Parts: sequence; structure tokens; C-alpha cells
Amino acid sequence: MSRHSPQPETEAPRTVDRPVVLGRWTHRRPVFLAPMSGITDLPFRRLAARFGCDVVVTEMVASDALQVGDVDATVRLAGEGLACHVVQIAGREPAQTARAAKMAVDAGADVIDLNMGCPAKRVVNGWSGAALMRDLDLATAIIVAVRAAVAVPVTVKMRLGWDRSALVAPELARRAEAEGVTMVTVHGRTRDQFYEGEADWAAVRPVRAAIAIPLIVNGDIASPETAEDALLASGADGVMIGRAACGRPWLPGAISAALAGRPEVPAPSGAALAALVAEHYEAMIAHHGRFVGVKAARKHLAWYLDAAESAGAAPVAAADRRALLTADDPVRAIRLIECLFADLSARSAA
Ligand SMILES: Cc1cc2nc3c(=O)[nH]c(=O)nc-3n(C[C@H](O)[C@H](O)[C@H](O)COP(=O)(O)O)c2cc1C
Repeated sequence: MSRHSPQPETEAPRTVDRPVVLGRWTHRRPVFLAPMSGITDLPFRRLAARFGCDVVVTEMVASDALQVGDVDATVRLAGEGLACHVVQIAGREPAQTARAAKMAVDAGADVIDLNMGCPAKRVVNGWSGAALMRDLDLATAIIVAVRAAVAVPVTVKMRLGWDRSALVAPELARRAEAEGVTMVTVHGRTRDQFYEGEADWAAVRPVRAAIAIPLIVNGDIASPETAEDALLASGADGVMIGRAACGRPWLPGAISAALAGRPEVPAPSGAALAALVAEHYEAMIAHHGRFVGVKAARKHLAWYLDAAESAGAAPVAAADRRALLTADDPVRAIRLIECLFADLSARSAA
């Protein structure tokens, strides 16, 4: 069924918005920032939260890496300043995943999310991420072990299944609920699709029928309209937004405001956009250190430029773009940001 197809007549239309309770937080029609490795570090999550995103999720933290003291895995646990700190753990072995979840909680996590949907080859070859959708007994054993190890809410993020011949999300969600999981998120693609094609929000609806706990729908949601469509097609209680937030950390908050009927949140422009990008850049350097921070910030700078262009700004000159995306000196980079982004917004407003 295409995403815009009407709901089958046998299914009740969505009429009530059930609250999504996560520990001490209750949201109606919440918008989540998706976990994205290499993207949703603490600086990005803080920005999204400040713009009104209801819940933000860390990048996936690998259980084995965390336990050997891997620096990147440990940095991913950071959540200072967030109202609700959700840490996503990936693991393939119940006891090890449970230990990692406990470490995350000891480091301040308010919620543990289990990654059962990552399609990356290096993850599924290690039998974690979406590979767990091929072994529901192992997936269930991981849930049981993690639930026993931590007192905070445990949630699960999954895809529809491994491929179209095995759409096991309803069964995995049912087992998760039976083992005390608080909420399930489903990306409307199978593992073998990776990011190809369109997310099938209607294919998430059987998960709605299988569980009573809150359900979050994910995949290709990029506006209040697509969020409404995804909620309607899936019967989910909230949405999760990933790639559309790149270069637009204000977008999840803007969608949350629209879903709640609050006043529109305007995208920053002019000096405000330049200041936001500069703040993000400096926060990344403060968080990751100069060497890693400068390099990691470049993709965000490129996304900010792309987002401004797709919002109507004239493209920046190729030489200016190159200068910004190759600057090694943070002082020079900030100067370029201030100059290019203020000018971008002026051109976009013209
Ligand atoms: C670069 C990148 C990294 C991702 N990393 C993770 C991750 O660490 N954990 C996870 O569960 N999903 C991860 N995802 C999947 C997203 O959370 C999300 O399910 C997917 O992008 C679909 O949502 P979207 O269409 O809104 O982007 C990643 C996706 C991308 C593009």
C-alpha cells in the first residue's frame, strides 16, 4: 500500500491521541530526534531540544566498545543539560548488552533504547542491529537481560523486518511489550532496503494492532504534513525524525509545535542563523576537542548550506563553500560562517 493510500475500511480511524509516557515525562504526539551515528552527538541533541524537540536520542553506543573503554563510545554517553537523556545501546549478547545499559544508566541515562534496526553490514555481521530481527529469541533474551539490569524505561527501535518475506516487527514488538518494554519505534523499511525507496508507514500499522504500549513511526518524515500522514497511516502515537533534521536542528521542534497546535516556530535566518551555526561549530569543538571537532563539524556546515539553498537561498560560490568546508583554523571558520550565513539569509530573504 502506498503511503498516501486511504486506510482500509476495516480499521478504525485514528480518533484519540494517547499520551506517551517515558519515565517521568509524558508527551502527546511527541517528536523524537532519531539516533544517528556520527550526527546526533550532544551538541546537536542540545540544539534540537532547545528548539522544542520533545525527546532526543544518542548515537548508537556499541556494548563491546563501551566495555573496553573506547573513547568514542564513552563520549556518546554524554547527556548533560538534557531534560530526558535517552541512550541507544547496540549489542548481540544479552549479558554484555545488559552491562552496557547499566554503564549508561550509571553515567546518567534516563531511558535505554535498544538498537534492533541498524542495517549497516558491520553491525548486522556482528549479529546486532537489524540482524536481531532474524533471531527473535536472541532479541528477546537481550531485552530480558537489559530490563533486569536497569530500573529506567527500556525502549526498542526496529525496522519492519529483515525483508518483505519476514515482516516480524509485530511479533518482536509483542514480545518486547510482554517483557516490559515501554515504547517501540518502527522505521517503515526492511533491512534489505537500507534507505532505498519510500518508508511504508501503513506497513507499521500491524505493530499498532499487536501492542498497547506507545508506538513511534519513523522514516522520511520531514514536515508537519508528512508527520500527520505518517501518524494517520500507521496509527502511531508520535514520530521520529532523522535525516530531515540535518542542517535544520529546529525542524523537529517546529513539527512538534505544529502537531500540538502551538504557534509556528520560524526557521532562524539572518544574523540568528549565522549565530546558531557558529554556536554549533564551537560546541562541537568544545565537546570533541579541536582535531575531531573541526572535522566532524564540516558535514553539519555542508548541511546548513544545503538546507538554506533548499529553502530558497542562492547557492554560495563554490570557492566560498570550499573555503568553509576545508578551514582548519576555528577562528577563520567562525569568521567565514558569520560572513557566509548572514549573507545567505539576506539573499534568501531578498
Ligand atoms: C547517518 C545515519 C546514522 C544512523 N545511525 C543510527 C543509529 O546509530 N541507531 C539507529 O537506531 N538508527 C540509526 N540510523 C537510522 C535513523 O535513526 C532512522 O531510523 C532512519 O534514518 C530513517 O529515518 P529518517 O528517514 O527520518 O532519516 C542512522 C541513519 C543515518 C542516515
